[in-house]
Amino acid sequence: MTADADIIDALRAAGLVGEGDVVLSPLTGGVSCEVWKVETPSGSIVVKRPLPQLRVAAEWHAPVERGTSEVRWLKRARGVDPGMAPEVLAELPGHAFAMRFLPDCPVWKDELMAGRVDIGFAAHVGQGIAAVHAATAHNEGDRTDFPNDEMFRALRVDPFLLHVARLDSELAFALTALADDVSSRKIALVHGDVSPKNILVSRAGPVFLDAECAVYGDPAFDLAFCTTHLLLKAVWSGEARLNDAAAALVAAYRAAIGWEDAGGLLLRAGKLAAALLLARVEGKSPAPYLTDPEHKRIVRDQARALIMAPQPIDALVANWKRTSP
Ligand SMILES: Nc1ncnc2c1ncn2[C@@H]1O[C@H](COP(=O)(O)OP(=O)(O)OP(=O)(O)O)[C@@H](O)[C@H]1O
Ligand SMILES: [Mg+2]
Repeated sequence: MTADADIIDALRAAGLVGEGDVVLSPLTGGVSCEVWKVETPSGSIVVKRPLPQLRVAAEWHAPVERGTSEVRWLKRARGVDPGMAPEVLAELPGHAFAMRFLPDCPVWKDELMAGRVDIGFAAHVGQGIAAVHAATAHNEGDRTDFPNDEMFRALRVDPFLLHVARLDSELAFALTALADDVSSRKIALVHGDVSPKNILVSRAGPVFLDAECAVYGDPAFDLAFCTTHLLLKAVWSGEARLNDAAAALVAAYRAAIGWEDAGGLLLRAGKLAAALLLARVEGKSPAPYLTDPEHKRIVRDQARALIMAPQPIDALVANWKRTSP
């Protein structure tokens, strides 16, 4: 029996499809999972199954249990705001799951890369990320539900922070300290992969996907991770509106911080953003569009300086240069 037949059997067992022909159409993306669209009698659904090894250049193994973490995050986020994540329809064997397909919702990355930069939408993304953090901050139940420190270390701390620390002796001390700090903080539910390619643009606002790295940890990580993507795209495109989008995202997030001192969180996010910016030009998961050596240099020079002399993320964004001085 093929893997696809396994999925179809599981969908039948869950009552999502009937006895007739079922077609699994692969969806684009899918670095870490197989993702299919399936037509069912009650509408289109998406089935997602984690791969044991990610499809990136460097060898990168990841436990398939992350599929279950993703389901938990999607459900928890919908508890905060049902518009924020797709509805989970069934959990399937192999840590796969089925969710409702959202029609006519472009991926935010595609919008940004096409030059359609909606600053209000960026602010809405900041509010959305903060809403989950605010709802889960200092919450023992959420802490117990997302004990994924080992997975977060393997998928985020090691490849993005420690990998670069191993390559760059000058920055090793600061990056290792940052890795220890982010690993030690247990403050709120972190999505772990808030990238524009994991956000759908619905008429009602952002819909967050792909929460395989969810962990109870430092909310500064999500703010830094998403902002980093906007700043990298600003260098790639030279588009000032991407700096404005990053500033709007950070400002909207900042306005919602009520669970801890905002200044402390923004400084942690600034340190993390600096490290993540460098990781996207030196690390195991490089930004695929930053191929121009000059673009890489602009990011690398600013990121290295910011790791040595950190700034809060709002200042970092305000000072971010798209071109060489
Ligand atoms: N519920 C959904 N409705 C509509 N489209 C979806 C849905 N879920 C996923 N997609 C589409 O499938 C793509 C891949 O989904 P997802 O990001 O969850 O998978 P992934 O394998 O983890 O991807 P990657 O590793 O490339 O980020 C998304 O970018 C989106 O285009
Ligand atoms: Mg994705």
